[in-house]
Amino acid sequence: MSLVKRCRHSRAGVVPALLVGALALATTLVGGPATAAQQGTLHELAAAQGRYFGSATDNPELPDAAYAAILGSEFGQITPGNSMKWDTTEPAQGRFDFAKGDVVADFAQQHGQTVRGHTLVWHSQLPGWVGALPSAQVEAAMTNHITEEVTHYRGAVAAWDVVNEPFNEDGTFRTSPFHTAMGSDYIATALRTAHAADPDARLYLNDYNIEGLGAKSDAMYALASELIAEGVPLDGIGMQAHLAVQYGFPYQMRENMRRFADLGLDVAVTELDVRMRLPADAAKVTTQSSYYQQVVEACLAVERCVGITVWDYTDKYSWVPGTFPGEGAANLYDENLAPKPAHDAVRTALGGGDDGGGEDGDPGALKVRYRNSDGSGTDNQIKPGLQLVNTGGTAVSLSSVTVRYWFTGDNGASAYNSWCDWSPIDCSTVTHRVVAVATPVAGADHYLEVGFTTGTLAPGASTGEIQLRLNKADWSNFDESDDYSHDSGTSYADAAKITAYVGGELAWGIEP
Ligand code: XIL
Repeated sequence: MSLVKRCRHSRAGVVPALLVGALALATTLVGGPATAAQQGTLHELAAAQGRYFGSATDNPELPDAAYAAILGSEFGQITPGNSMKWDTTEPAQGRFDFAKGDVVADFAQQHGQTVRGHTLVWHSQLPGWVGALPSAQVEAAMTNHITEEVTHYRGAVAAWDVVNEPFNEDGTFRTSPFHTAMGSDYIATALRTAHAADPDARLYLNDYNIEGLGAKSDAMYALASELIAEGVPLDGIGMQAHLAVQYGFPYQMRENMRRFADLGLDVAVTELDVRMRLPADAAKVTTQSSYYQQVVEACLAVERCVGITVWDYTDKYSWVPGTFPGEGAANLYDENLAPKPAHDAVRTALGGGDDGGGEDGDPGALKVRYRNSDGSGTDNQIKPGLQLVNTGGTAVSLSSVTVRYWFTGDNGASAYNSWCDWSPIDCSTVTHRVVAVATPVAGADHYLEVGFTTGTLAPGASTGEIQLRLNKADWSNFDESDDYSHDSGTSYADAAKITAYVGGELAWGIEP
């Protein structure tokens, strides 16, 4: 089908939907006296903090126009609740069916949303034929499944839950056809296979009851440490966060997130909901709001926490009543799609009354954050991801700001093309060009200069990710290893070798 081709490296092509989102965002950022808490969608508020805010969805829900309207406008990321699972995508061995997953991916593309792919390898919603295979055939079936699915969604799925729920509550490995056939090695094999099929996708291990410190999160931490030491391509840990008011808030969630972040991993809250025993009452609703708020606060406190996904946004389509009899009311919106107190709590935590820093410091202070989005340092493109953050106490007008990414052109043509592939502030507001350095120095004979046509960065706010790309006119290769601004880190970090200027004056970084 055409979805993949259309999506691949061409998210700027999704102009109408993105433009609508970006105009709304621009209104938020440029807006006069109103604060972020008074306007902006959940995703816009999160994007201003460098995060996404997303929701699960499912194919039977999408024809509900009122539901789809909120899904498409309030959220910047979606996860298919079921339609990318193995029982749907490969119901019989070798017979692949991506029709339902494609519907969700198309919805995302039309609404300028990213997709978390869920999930490739899981003991549940696994068709019977996998468990019936002789052990010796399970690995080949698993790698084939991963290769086919990840290849199909290349460019359309930004992050994959490669393995879901690998652990028991006590931290031992869960029994599954995969574990039985390969032992815990199946996890490294799954990650390597997914990486080979799409080197640009962010690869996660996902589980529940690993939100706080405890035996199960210790086991995930040990596994992640081991995989990293072995050079296995692992980018992040997904914490499902199916919480319940009667079980208390996870123990030390931020400290737990931070230890994974300190391993160099991203962290994502992937399936947040907060259920309660029915009927709801005021006390339960208050506790629920506080849990939602605490999850947002934990994520914002840990730089590597990239975003939050709620496991559907409305009680109308929650999985909770069907799975936990007598429980429900777990979501941000009620069954009539009206926002609940938890929704306000999330909004407040995301930006409004937040006192999370950024209010002190030098007026106009900026920093640049960078990640390397390029699978290869020796191919014909350079792909920096940038974020600009206002670390000062006053708003910065983006049209006065430029940023320089310094590199060497190596041999080849002197003409360049540059691209903005995607940004929550909308690429149509981002200018970019390659400039030759008058007196080249080691590591820099050119720079990519990025500017902005409009927008204001409030104190503490971030532009969110700006996905940039450049190539030479003759498409000859680069050797990025000696480039001044180049770094191999694939997750966002402060970048002193990428410089930023306000009104032409150096405001961040060190020039080469
Ligand atoms: C759930 C879906 O929401 C339901 O529709 C389905 O019947 C069962 O699975 N953890 C996960 C998700 O990783 O895949 C589960 O989704 C919820 C728990």
